[in-house]
Amino acid sequence: MEITFPPTFLWGTATAAHQVEGGNVYNDTWAMEHATGSAFVESSGDACDHYHRYREDIALLADLGFTLYRFSLEWSRIEPEEGEFSLAQLDHYRRMLATCHEHGIIPMVTFHHFTSPCWLAASGGWEAQDTPEKFARFCERAMAHLGDLIPLACTLNEVNGGPLIKAIAGEIMGSMRKAPWFEAAARSVGSDASRFVPMMFADSERGRETTLAAHRRAVEAIKAGRGKCEVGLTLAMQDIQAGPGGEEMAAQMRRELLDVYLEGTRGDDFIGVQTYSRQRFGPAGPLGPEEGVERTQMDYEFWPEALEAAIRYASAMTGMPVIVTENGIATDDDTRRIAYIERALRGVAACLRDGIDVRGYTYWSALDNFEWLLGYRPTFGLIAVNRHTQERTVKPSARRLGSIARAHGF
Ligand code: BGC
Repeated sequence: MEITFPPTFLWGTATAAHQVEGGNVYNDTWAMEHATGSAFVESSGDACDHYHRYREDIALLADLGFTLYRFSLEWSRIEPEEGEFSLAQLDHYRRMLATCHEHGIIPMVTFHHFTSPCWLAASGGWEAQDTPEKFARFCERAMAHLGDLIPLACTLNEVNGGPLIKAIAGEIMGSMRKAPWFEAAARSVGSDASRFVPMMFADSERGRETTLAAHRRAVEAIKAGRGKCEVGLTLAMQDIQAGPGGEEMAAQMRRELLDVYLEGTRGDDFIGVQTYSRQRFGPAGPLGPEEGVERTQMDYEFWPEALEAAIRYASAMTGMPVIVTENGIATDDDTRRIAYIERALRGVAACLRDGIDVRGYTYWSALDNFEWLLGYRPTFGLIAVNRHTQERTVKPSARRLGSIARAHGF
C-alpha cells in the first residue's frame, strides 16, 4: 500500500436534515422554496425520505465500511414553535443515534445545518441579538435527551458560507433579499424581508457576530450536557490562492473569510474543515475558474488538492485537531469522483506524515440529495437515489472509499 492511514482514523460520510429527510415544512428554507417566483429551482419535497429510511441507510453505510456518520438535527422539528419542544422528535433522533451505535458507526451530530425554524428566521434570525441564546437553549434541550449517545458534535455548519458567497459571487444573496419572492417567503411566515434572515443570507458583520456568539454559547451548552462530547465548528474552507498580482487581495480574503472565524474557535476540541475547490483572487477580486481546468456540476474547478492546503491552514491557525467534515464533488461521472477522492486523500496522508493531527475524513455526501437553490440536479452522493421510487443504488465510488476505509489505505 502506497498511502496509509492510522487505524484510529475515522472514515465518514455526511448528510444534513433538510437535504435528505423530506417534509421539513416548519423551517425557513421550505418557506423560501414555496414562495411564488422562488429562486429555488424546486421543492425539497420528500427529499430522500431519510426520516423514515435512516435504518437501511445507516446499515448500508456500515456494510460499505464507514465508521462515522455526520448528520444534523432539524431544529424546526424539535422546536416547531418557540419554547415548544417535541419529545417525539427528540426520540426520533435518539433512535437514529442508537442505530449508528448498533452498527459500530460513530455519530457526529450537527446542531444547525443552514435551516432554522420559521419563528426564528421571522424575528431577525441570524442577525438578531437574542438568537445565540435561543440556539443555546435548543442545544441544551437536545443534549439533555440525546447527549449520552453523542460523542462528536458540530455546533453550526459553515457560518462563513454567506460571506464566502458574497466574496466570490458579489451581491447575489443581497439582491435575492430584495426580490419579490423573498418578501413573499418572509410574509408567509408572518415577517417582512427586513426581519427575515435565514443563515445563508446572514452575510453582514452583524451576521458574523451573531453566528460566532451562537457558536460559543452552543459549545458551553453542549459541554455542560449529558455524556462526554467533543465539540467543534465547521467552516467553508476553500483554498484561497493568489492569481497574478493578487497576493494582497488573497491575504485580505483569508483574513476576512477564514481567520476571523478560526479565531472564534479557540478552546474547541477540533476544527471541522469543509473544502470543495480552490478560489483564486486577483488585485481587484475573484478571478473565477482558470481556463482549461475541468469543472464540476457546481461549476467549481476540479481541484482536490485544495483539501490538503485547507487542512494545513486550519491546523496552523488553530493548533487544534482537524476533522475533515465535508469534502466531495458533484458529478455524474463516478470515475471522476473516485479520482477526486483519491487525490484528496493523498493530501490528507501528506498532512499526517508531517505530523498534523487529522482525525478523520468525511465525504459529502452519503446520498444524492437536495442541493439547496439548485434542487436535485447536482449529484454529490456515493449512493444514488431514484427520485420516483426512493430506491438506493450504491455507486462504485462508495465501494472504493469503503474499501480504503477497511484497508486503512490504498
Ligand atoms: C454544505 C452542504 C452542501 C455542500 C455542497 C456545503 O457547503 O454544508 O449543505 O450541500 O456544501 O454544495
